[in-house]
Amino acid sequence: MKQVSRSLEETKDIATSFLKTLKPSNSAVIVALHGDLGAGKTAFVKKCAEHFGIQETIISPTFVIEKIYKIPHEQVSPWKHIVHIDAYRFEDSSELRHLGFEEVAKDADNLIFIEWPERIKEFLPKETINIYLKFVDEESREINIED
Ligand SMILES: Nc1ncnc2c1ncn2[C@@H]1O[C@H](COP(=O)(O)OP(=O)(O)OP(=O)(O)O)[C@@H](O)[C@H]1O
Ligand SMILES: [Mg+2]
Repeated sequence: MKQVSRSLEETKDIATSFLKTLKPSNSAVIVALHGDLGAGKTAFVKKCAEHFGIQETIISPTFVIEKIYKIPHEQVSPWKHIVHIDAYRFEDSSELRHLGFEEVAKDADNLIFIEWPERIKEFLPKETINIYLKFVDEESREINIED
């Protein structure tokens, strides 16, 4: 479904509706965020984290590759953690192994968001949910969620 967000508030609404469509599974749910620099990938993850009551500021993990945020206990959520991966600087598969990606991806407690997923596409399961983001103008972003 293709939508246009005209503000961060609208991006939050789109993120919230998206989260409601997700079904827990017997492994992690993986969401791949496609789009150029500044398309709003990190912003989308931030809004999802906010929805789950994560207070910690979501930083772009460009320099750390992976960050794991705990969803507070009092939240009603099928997941216990949000995992945020930025594969922009990803060089080879040994890095993913180093991050324990296989384990993280197996764990049904994890909701995983991946920026620059094309860099690690051979490691993503076919169940991966793809979201395509595009810069429209300063305040607007196209958000296309694959059905
Ligand atoms: N409607 C909107 N939705 C989302 N972000 C918006 C919107 N309007 C403006 N922005 C701004 O666009 C910027 C998007 O930056 P963001 O860091 O999310 O991009 P990114 O896709 O993660 O880029 P990178 O590949 O560099 O990590 C933010 O500064 C955000 O405030
Ligand atoms: Mg980013």
